[in-house]
Amino acid sequence: MINLAILISGRGSNMEAILRAIKKKKIPVKPAIVISNKPDAKGLKIAQKLGVKTAVVESLGLKGGSWEYDQKLVAALEENNVTPKNGLVCLAGFMRIMSPEFIKHYKGRILNIHPAILPAFPGLHSQKQAVEYGVKYSGCTVHFVDEGVDTGPIILQAIVKVKDSDTEESLSKKILKQEHKIYPKAVRLFAEGKIRTKGRKTAIS
Ligand code: GRF
Repeated sequence: MINLAILISGRGSNMEAILRAIKKKKIPVKPAIVISNKPDAKGLKIAQKLGVKTAVVESLGLKGGSWEYDQKLVAALEENNVTPKNGLVCLAGFMRIMSPEFIKHYKGRILNIHPAILPAFPGLHSQKQAVEYGVKYSGCTVHFVDEGVDTGPIILQAIVKVKDSDTEESLSKKILKQEHKIYPKAVRLFAEGKIRTKGRKTAIS
């Protein structure tokens, strides 16, 4: 069975959606560890309530994308038996860029959720960018993580309609509802070995 690690920095609602789906036996993975880079991340308490082990690997002062920090992450992951052979690392609101070394180590085994229809609006504040741009539809994307920012092969996307009256907050809420559906689904597809990647395309069987 796959050993799942979820990395968070804050609220942890996507993490919760995944953990609840696992509890309901909808995803055949073992939730090995939830790691936060922030000691006060709300998601840590939620994970503990759900009976999942948590750890804090503090990133204070360590630059995003640096191997110096990511090496500590790898140590914590491997201590919990999340390895390049049997592991899956889900970034769920983890507010750091991963280093090329980390991505190479867990090649093809790191997923992320992004609150926009990639390749539109990568990076931060995607919902604000979408509202300001005036798009009629936005949504969310689950993708593999590669060396770029939100550029890896796309696994699943869901769309929402953007109304004239939508604000960053209202759009974020609508998108988040969809995130909670497609992220657990993508983890299940991965766990069931149903995702094939060829170049930057994925095929789901
Ligand atoms: C989500 O909108 C996700 O798409 C983005 O960060 C936010 C995390 O929210 N990457 P939560 O911590 O899962 O509630």
